Amino acid sequence: KDNVKILFIGLNPGKDENETGIPFVGKSGKLLDKWINFLGVSPKRCSVVNLIKCFTPNQSGLNGDEADNCFPYLERQIQLLNPEHIVVLGDIVYKKLTNQSLSITQAEGKFFPSVFKNKDVFVMRHPSYFVRKGSVGWEDSLNQLKDLLNQQVVTEVQEYTPLHCHSEYSLTDGAGRLEDLVEHAKNVGFKAMALTDHGTISGWYEFQQLCDKYSIKGILGIEF
Ligand code: URA
Repeated sequence: KDNVKILFIGLNPGKDENETGIPFVGKSGKLLDKWINFLGVSPKRCSVVNLIKCFTPNQSGLNGDEADNCFPYLERQIQLLNPEHIVVLGDIVYKKLTNQSLSITQAEGKFFPSVFKNKDVFVMRHPSYFVRKGSVGWEDSLNQLKDLLNQQVVTEVQEYTPLHCHSEYSLTDGAGRLEDLVEHAKNVGFKAMALTDHGTISGWYEFQQLCDKYSIKGILGIEF
């Protein structure tokens, strides 16, 4: 139910990441935070991992054994996190995980089939590329993913209105968590959102809190 919405896959830990055990602790990580904010997805629903799990001094062998040796760990992480969308960061990761020959310039901002079963990946240049350019110029590429996320939600909101919450027709069956819907309804510009049910609306309290949190007008209704 709380699976990861977006998983970013970077290349390898730098010195700081190696010491802390946390990926993307530096400037590139700050930019990734910006991207997550731009996409309108809760940071709690995003995760970041690296293709290569260890610090590789002098960046040597990045296209060689390291990636192959670490690959089973990455595969297992993907199995466990079960992300809805995967964003691959940078040329090496993109090529390794898609087997495409298009250059990163041609591939960025697009989806490609990947080596993971039934999963496409979305390609971005590595955040460090944009950091070097002053952390600008990434919006156009990331917009393709943002549009897709927004389209999904608009369709879901239309399809699933009225929304049934906490019942056997739970929101979580088709349209994601209630919080996601409220958050995205807000992000795609809805001013109000109605929650209705036949009889008792058991999710009303959570709904009320979420409407407060996201400053969207909440309406409760009984269907008959
Ligand atoms: N660059 C990466 O690809 N991964 C990190 O964790 C840090 C920088």
